[in-house]
Amino acid sequence: MNIVGIIGAGTMGSGIAQIAASNNCKVHLFDMHQEALDKSQAKLEKILNRLIEKGRIDENTKSNIQSNIHVHIDMKHFQDCDLVIEAIVENPEIKKKVFEQVESIVSEDCIIASNTSSLSITSLAAGLNKPQRFMGIHFFNPAPLMKLVEIIPAIQTDPALANMANETIKKWGKLTVVAKDTPGFIVNRVARPFYSEALRIYEEGLAGMKMIDLAMKMAVPAGLDAKETSSPGFRMGPFELMDFIGHDVNFVVTETMYNSFYQEARYKPSFTQKRHVEAGYLGRKSGRGFYDYGPDRVETEILPNPELMQKIAHRIVIMLINEAADAAYYNIASPEDIDTAMTKGVNYPKGLLAWADELGIQHCVDAMDNLYNTYHEARYRCSPMLRQLANTGTTFFGNNTLNKNII
Ligand code: NAI
Repeated sequence: MNIVGIIGAGTMGSGIAQIAASNNCKVHLFDMHQEALDKSQAKLEKILNRLIEKGRIDENTKSNIQSNIHVHIDMKHFQDCDLVIEAIVENPEIKKKVFEQVESIVSEDCIIASNTSSLSITSLAAGLNKPQRFMGIHFFNPAPLMKLVEIIPAIQTDPALANMANETIKKWGKLTVVAKDTPGFIVNRVARPFYSEALRIYEEGLAGMKMIDLAMKMAVPAGLDAKETSSPGFRMGPFELMDFIGHDVNFVVTETMYNSFYQEARYKPSFTQKRHVEAGYLGRKSGRGFYDYGPDRVETEILPNPELMQKIAHRIVIMLINEAADAAYYNIASPEDIDTAMTKGVNYPKGLLAWADELGIQHCVDAMDNLYNTYHEARYRCSPMLRQLANTGTTFFGNNTLNKNII
């Protein structure tokens, strides 16, 4: 696919345009606001200059990339596009109107995709004349740097076209995973317990935020056969990460997941985070979130409690494993793709299902049952996938002879 149309020259559209242009595609970048296009070009100039300074590209490559991108405030140039990727405001009605317009311009063979994080791909496809050409192609922010891309076929999508798009994105140097069209796809679904269980532990008063953050960075459980004594851990703690993402964004994702899954207990939002949103304590961007980032902040140190930190990290990792196992159980993606998504999309130190194998599947089941027996809440129910593997003595990646003859 040589000619690519991008709709929306904001954060994501600009990044995707840069990727396609760097891979020798001719890119038509369209936005309804001229300022957005100007900003996008100025930002690209800065990024490319930085890459030259670092010796990653030369002047020639820079000018090739820039000359591959053509900016427009109308869509008529999309007529020759092989692939169009939409990255505008997260509003289904506006997106559907835009797709109607796109379809009236592009050729019959053009693949059309959305970069949406939270909308149903199937419902967006339903608005098209030719829904079989539509799919989700979900990049992560910042798109040029993040390796992972989730490919999400709608139920109407022609599998051959989904394969074609997948191959193109791989040629652009990305690692792709294929996800079923369900809320949160892979990453945003499987990552929920990283935040929600940390908030729960905090709300119960079992530990402070700093201790929980420290636990996830320093005290994650190694596999039973792991050689290292201190695991590398997660790059950021949950509270630091929520402050970084912004509570407005992170809370809305959690609330959307909770409602999209018909009030599934595992995704229940936290009042602690809700109150922070209400107070305008949105995180780094507002100078205050769970932590203070203002000029007068006072840095406080805590005394690490290794025993408590191990318990915290173990509980959160087990909850993540349970969520990943459930995603595998419901065929949201293959176990391989689920692990790739979490290690490459959000830099987890290990794939969660490989981690389950290392810790021992029975160990994971016992840990979940322990939580359930303590709280008697649905959020702690063990995934049927883990229980079945334990019952049959199988693992995700070893002697994997999964069958689901549970009934
Ligand atoms: P943004 O707000 O940075 O950019 C959106 C751009 O679309 C703006 O330049 C706006 O002028 C333009 N736009 C809005 N309506 C338009 C229309 N009708 N026609 C043409 N242009 C229009 O948004 P961002 O963050 O780039 O998000 C875009 C999409 O990507 C959303 O669907 C979002 O869910 C998804 N996404 C965002 C990620 C992020 O971290 N920001 C990560 C992955 C996906």
